[in-house]
Amino acid sequence: MKKPIPLFAVILSTAASAQVEVFLPAQEVSTRMGRSVGGGMTLEVENPGNHTWQLRSWTGTGEWTNHSVYKVPNGRLSIPIDPVGPTRFYQLVSVDSPPASTVAGALELPVTPFNYANPTLPAHLTTPQILGQINTPGNNAITNAGATLGRVLFYDKRMSANQTVSCSSCHQAEHGFSDPARFSTGFDGGLTGRNSMGLTNARYYLRQNFFWDERAATLEDQVLEPIQNHIEMGITLDVMVSRIQAEGFYGQLFTAAFGSPQVTTTRVSRALSQFVRSIISSNSKYDQGVPVGFSNFTASESRGRNIFNGGAGGCAQCHGSDNFVPGNAIFNNGLENPYTDKGLGEVTGASADEGFFKVPSLRNIALTAPYMHDGRFATLEQVVEFYNSGVVAHPNLSPQLRLPPPPPGNPPPGPRRLNLTNQQKADLVAFLRTLTDLSVTTDEKFLDPFRYEAP
Ligand code: HEC
Ligand code: HEC
Repeated sequence: MKKPIPLFAVILSTAASAQVEVFLPAQEVSTRMGRSVGGGMTLEVENPGNHTWQLRSWTGTGEWTNHSVYKVPNGRLSIPIDPVGPTRFYQLVSVDSPPASTVAGALELPVTPFNYANPTLPAHLTTPQILGQINTPGNNAITNAGATLGRVLFYDKRMSANQTVSCSSCHQAEHGFSDPARFSTGFDGGLTGRNSMGLTNARYYLRQNFFWDERAATLEDQVLEPIQNHIEMGITLDVMVSRIQAEGFYGQLFTAAFGSPQVTTTRVSRALSQFVRSIISSNSKYDQGVPVGFSNFTASESRGRNIFNGGAGGCAQCHGSDNFVPGNAIFNNGLENPYTDKGLGEVTGASADEGFFKVPSLRNIALTAPYMHDGRFATLEQVVEFYNSGVVAHPNLSPQLRLPPPPPGNPPPGPRRLNLTNQQKADLVAFLRTLTDLSVTTDEKFLDPFRYEAP
């Protein structure tokens, strides 16, 4: 049981200057003063923890006046203060007996955990080909309690240095668990070097590797990278573990998931991976179409499907199967020459690997704009126009995007041009939109579980 933190901050506010006096018993807690847009002030506690805070003010004589009580179980506490009027002193104190940090107090979780372990999947997502794409290791099968813990960690801002950023900041459910910004903003305002990746059906990838350049061998390895990345979340795994360990409610969640309250890096990695792997889309218009021969498709969507699969577009050669992922291959799709970001080539240093990037699943692709590893295309229309007329003759350009091979001894053929009509381009986009599945991006079991209101 944690002792209440007697954090105490007095803010002296005058028109000309603002002074902050802080008495800090806990090293991690800090208080800052800033200016807000309207000329008022903002009192910020970077690490409010799972405590209840009382804002008080004083005019210099008489008693302190109590204002609102704030409870923020997740992330920074930011309170706008109006310095006008006779009030000259503000104080933020943790309320004498903060409620114990319990699952019920901090989180909105169902009594019976959501079903993550055994979702009902349609027949076309249980074929040998699809099952072969599953990248779950033998020692980390999804359990309902494990994925629930992963869900809480995924949304917890304690995972970043100043508690401003969680995984969900850059992997937003409504954007297919991706980021609508071309590059994502990390905890300290820095930008990531690549576009965030959508996570829908990330569980299905034959080669098992993660990141645009496939540098993480497994998802279990991958999920620990952003925590330590100096731009994204910026803390050591030791600090992460001690923060999580210090938060009472996690004890219950770890016990449910792993049998004891002990927090370890491996358990965090496994829980986060279980949650990510549970994000499965199986109810898009496309999925509804499979068992009925796509009779639910419009004429345009059906033509688009043929272009995608067939000769005119040939997209399915690299975006294949009902998960729209490649087989055992990584590709260069001729975005530029030379590549600024060399993708796999950055990892291996080999020029033969320049411009090879992982092809993530196209499920929910209409939600995850902008597109490609550097987010260069804002819309699907731009992506289709690129494949239609803009593929660049890079020496490593994958053969699927080249003209037919000439007789042996000749130089490799240049990039192919699709010469699609405007209608065909629109058809292809219409087809890609049938892969949208809002039932996964709005399902409570994948959304933020924290309570934010004051009690
Ligand atoms: C500041 C933004 C940011 C944060 C925070 C962040 N990510 Fe990411 N994520 C990215 C970017 C950008 C990439 C692509 C990076 C690359 O390929 O080099 C990525 C890639 C991934 C991938 C790879 C997907 C694939 O198909 O290969 C996974 C999985 C992932 N992130 C999960 C997480 C988890 C779990 C967390 C929290 C522990 C997290 N991310 C935190 C921005 C972020
Ligand atoms: C040679 C294999 C190949 C073929 C054929 C191909 N693609 Fe791609 N596609 C890729 C690669 C590789 C990437 C990622 C490239 C990058 O980010 O640098 C990609 C990325 C994409 C993306 C963006 C994914 C994201 O999450 O940002 C879309 C959309 C897409 N392709 C659609 C298509 C369509 C439509 C076609 C057919 C006209 C097609 N692709 C044909 C290899 C291919």
